[in-house]
Amino acid sequence: MRILSIETSCDDTAISIMEAKGDIESASFKVLANVSDSQIKIHASYGGVYPMLAKREHIKNLPILLKEVLKKAFLKGKALGIQKGLAFLKNPGIDLIAVTYGPGLEPALWTGITFAKELAKKWKTPLMPVNHMEGHIVSPFAKDKGKFSIPKINFPALSLLVSGGHTELILSKNWLQYKIIGETLDDAAGEAFDKVARMLGLPYPGGPEISKLAEEERKSGSRKHIVYGTLGRSDGDGQRKFSAENFRGDRNNMLSEPKKIGFSVALPRPMIHSKNFDFSFSGLKTAVLYLIKKIGKPDAEIKRRIAMEFENAVVDTLVYKTIKAKEKYKAKTVIVAGGVSCNKHLQKEMKEAVGKSAKLLFPQKELTGDNSIMIGMAGYLRFIKKSKKTGEISDLKAKGNLRLK
Ligand code: KG4
Ligand code: ZN
Repeated sequence: MRILSIETSCDDTAISIMEAKGDIESASFKVLANVSDSQIKIHASYGGVYPMLAKREHIKNLPILLKEVLKKAFLKGKALGIQKGLAFLKNPGIDLIAVTYGPGLEPALWTGITFAKELAKKWKTPLMPVNHMEGHIVSPFAKDKGKFSIPKINFPALSLLVSGGHTELILSKNWLQYKIIGETLDDAAGEAFDKVARMLGLPYPGGPEISKLAEEERKSGSRKHIVYGTLGRSDGDGQRKFSAENFRGDRNNMLSEPKKIGFSVALPRPMIHSKNFDFSFSGLKTAVLYLIKKIGKPDAEIKRRIAMEFENAVVDTLVYKTIKAKEKYKAKTVIVAGGVSCNKHLQKEMKEAVGKSAKLLFPQKELTGDNSIMIGMAGYLRFIKKSKKTGEISDLKAKGNLRLK
């Protein structure tokens, strides 16, 4: 069947058309077209996503992207009347429309939902609402072009979802079954990256900027005696001996180089010793704020050090809690997805910590952030699971705080 999927939960407007077939365990997909428009530049001056502006941009982008995706997917563009701006009138062979209905910014979500409803009515197509987080969970199985199929997954599976709006650990005993076992009590990991970047005078979104500086600092190689923010790194034999138990929380004290710069840039690893799987990044952000207040305007070198120490602190916490949960629930598969999952240091540390104890999956770089391929996939899997039932089009509403269950 052919699926048209729409994503507008935050600052990306995205539409794709895919062919999908097979049962959940053996589903395969072919991307016919995948188009998107990022609003990053528009929101950059606000230092974050401004919901009413996002709504305005989605409304403007959706019809343009629809024409583009139809043209790319079907060579018969002319026959469809696309050239005359009549793309809405005739169903070009779409069997299902999938749309994100939460979580996210409600004004932004509504634009996609309203657009999808209109199309579904005109094209007489069933409409499948998709939970954005379920999309992120299936995103590591996808490609942004060509063909792909769902690999064999061993359960239980543990997903660490890390984005600008979410930081969650989710346990799945089977396909499309979820239990949130931990989440952030305040800021999301990506949000903390964005806020700290702002404090350091770096542009939005801050994740890639901080990551770049941190990588530069790591590569500079002149500070060999610094114990970088790694979990359970062995001290000499090169063997990784990671387990949640052997993490040395006290090594934070060794992270800076007080002698050379005259002060320590050590930051806390928030909630690392708490008994649950929750996270908290707001205190870490405040610690950076105090540090900057104490030292005054940081120069380029100090910015790099703070960036590295901050990234280490976030990654240590994420990896530590994930491994603790993996051990407790005996997870056989670990999925890391969402905008922050493209962070190189997180990928490296997670790979080393998981080792051969479970299958570790990250999305292709292009699919770490918000995209409509993952929405089409999740929509199809839901469609199959629910025996092709989709519900009343008019009943569909945006749910900003939608949770996985
Ligand atoms: O999933 P996403 O594209 O949108 C949301 O649903 O939030 O995630 C965006 C977040 C932003 O906070 C951004 O700073 C962060 O992902 N991010 C990163 C990196 N690339 C993007 N964080 C850390 N390191 C990165 N390389
Ligand atoms: Zn997202």
